Amino acid sequence: MKNSKKINEHASKKVASFKHWYHRITISSGIETPGSHDSNQELALLDQLGLPLDCSGLRVLDIGCCDGFFSFEMERRGADVLAIDFTAPGIRGFSIAAELLNSNVEHRIANVYDLNPAEFGTFDMVLFLGVLYHLRNPLLALDKVRSVTKSEGLLFVETQLATDVTVLESDTPLCQFFPADTLYGDGTNKWGPNQAGLVEMVREAQFELVNEGRYGDRGYAYAKSIYDEKLESFRKIDSSTSAFGAEQKNKT
Ligand SMILES: C[S@@+](CC[C@H](N)C(=O)[O-])C[C@H]1O[C@@H](n2cnc3c(N)ncnc32)[C@H](O)[C@@H]1O
Repeated sequence: MKNSKKINEHASKKVASFKHWYHRITISSGIETPGSHDSNQELALLDQLGLPLDCSGLRVLDIGCCDGFFSFEMERRGADVLAIDFTAPGIRGFSIAAELLNSNVEHRIANVYDLNPAEFGTFDMVLFLGVLYHLRNPLLALDKVRSVTKSEGLLFVETQLATDVTVLESDTPLCQFFPADTLYGDGTNKWGPNQAGLVEMVREAQFELVNEGRYGDRGYAYAKSIYDEKLESFRKIDSSTSAFGAEQKNKT
């Protein structure tokens, strides 16, 4: 009894020592990290969408893991998890949470654009939550995500959508560009698709849509990795190692 009181005091102190929590992670009964993000609500939406409740035997990649709420949840559900973020785990609350949860989640400092199967391997499931709208090149990032997703592997994407009502409510696939720091004063907010735009970008990167959801100005897509020869040829044209480029050169 005395021992568990001591452990809880230690956990409370550790949690309080970090001032910038984003996620609300349950450390033990009565101790939750005081994040601004309603992490359990988002988890409930992902569960509704089809996030597996049992992840035993699955290798899962959590891109832009931040404090690690989704990484630790996937581990709790039985997955072997790699968490990546371009910020260090000690700058986020990840290191503290991992220690307090006694977690085995591996954290790597990495940019989504650097994902490749040779270095990172491939994954049964990829979580790409709250990152897409921060990227200047969202389709390139989705291609990189596709490159590390196993055949028929699962992808869950969540993003800020467009804020312009005409764009947001349109059924035409559209993306709104946020120049400089025009979205919420944050210069890292770059592209907000509408729901149709999100779905079509995911499809363009060779994923087949399984389910989708829109909640206000946040969009969700759940998809399965496929191979599509035509889409793959479009992707190659748009890469610096264009197979078509080489073919053209040989003809001159
Ligand atoms: C809004 S938070 C989302 C956190 C978490 N995935 C969620 O949905 O609750 C965005 C996170 O993505 C990370 N991030 C942004 N751009 C990234 C990039 N290009 N590569 C890797 N991580 C990135 C940020 O450092 C931050 O931790």
